[in-house]
Amino acid sequence: MAFSSTPSLGNTPDLIRFAYWVPNVSGGLVVSKIEQRTSWDIDYNRKLAQIAERSGFDYALSQIRFTAGYGADSQHEPVAFSHALLAATERLKVIAAILPGPWNPAVAAKQLATIDQLTGGRVAINIVSGWFKGEFTAIGEPWLEHDERYRRSEEFIRALKGIWTQDNFSFSGDFYRFHDYTLRPKPLGLPHPEIFQGGSSRAARDMAARVSDWYFTNGSTLEGIKAQVDDVRAKAAKEGRHVKIGVNAFIIARETEAEARAVLDEIIAKADPEAVNAFGDAAKQAGKASPEGEGNWAKSTFEDLVQYNDGFKTNLIGTPQQIAERIVALKEIGVDLVLSAFLHFQEEVEYFGKHVLPLVREIEASRKAA
Ligand SMILES: Cc1cc2nc3c(=O)[nH]c(=O)nc-3n(C[C@H](O)[C@H](O)[C@H](O)COP(=O)(O)O)c2cc1C
Repeated sequence: MAFSSTPSLGNTPDLIRFAYWVPNVSGGLVVSKIEQRTSWDIDYNRKLAQIAERSGFDYALSQIRFTAGYGADSQHEPVAFSHALLAATERLKVIAAILPGPWNPAVAAKQLATIDQLTGGRVAINIVSGWFKGEFTAIGEPWLEHDERYRRSEEFIRALKGIWTQDNFSFSGDFYRFHDYTLRPKPLGLPHPEIFQGGSSRAARDMAARVSDWYFTNGSTLEGIKAQVDDVRAKAAKEGRHVKIGVNAFIIARETEAEARAVLDEIIAKADPEAVNAFGDAAKQAGKASPEGEGNWAKSTFEDLVQYNDGFKTNLIGTPQQIAERIVALKEIGVDLVLSAFLHFQEEVEYFGKHVLPLVREIEASRKAA
């Protein structure tokens, strides 16, 4: 049986899509001592995945950490965890994060092909190039400088695509080599499981244009996101390709704007300064390490870093109506997917599905008619 590469998206490719961050890491998605009714355990996450697919979410993204210096002291491995979520759901696609270096493409291609076979073509992959040197040192993995990490990731992706789509695959790169290799069975998802990647630097954008299906970036202002969308799209067009764009946002939807702003203020007021600053030091080094200095976090303030992928900057904070309008504004500058995080995941994913998503669909329909 053949599946389309996006089985959950049906016949409506013009609608903006939603993903949520899988909390497979302890401590929630903000580095703050505010109460977070979010748990990283599997029972909580299975139920969350079921709520999300019922609420209109198409994707869930799991995270990879071997260590994390910002208080997330326990974390489940994302490929195994993603499989458990796929087994508990029927429609949701789960994107498993993978870090080239610790993973090699032969193992990743085989692991993902098996999960894809077992779950009706619903697994996808997020290639993260790495930003935390301490993590690589801790597991004895050589640390490459910024652009070299992307050169390795690009080879990783080219190898994955080759293994997944060709028989007798041969490849001779600086990092990986394959000789007449045939993977059986191949994945069901056609032409192969979707390939996402994270990052904001020039190297990240160049790599997306050449090889990735999706470009995931940190939260930012509408202008900041537009600059990235335009750059990735222009570069991809030169390669004869189209790359889809996903943007991170920490969503706080409340009945009044004042209530939503008060929640943000409390998150910041209760931020854990030691943990945020430790993360900030590592992340800023990573951001500045890109030769042009435009990497993730290069310009992040203390407040931004309390959500570790700059999710407040996207400003999906307010009433359902305000948030829905801002989501459609993102769509209008070319964003295909909003990657969301919440304070109390189960409750707020459900609230989003009931109160925000229908407004997004209404505004989309009225703009289309107009
Ligand atoms: C949406 C998104 C998800 C990411 N997930 C992870 C992750 O799970 N683990 C990780 O170590 N890095 C993750 N990253 C970090 C990136 O892969 C990359 O290493 C980092 O953004 C540095 O990019 P830069 O080249 O822009 O400096 C993620 C980034 C984004 C935007």
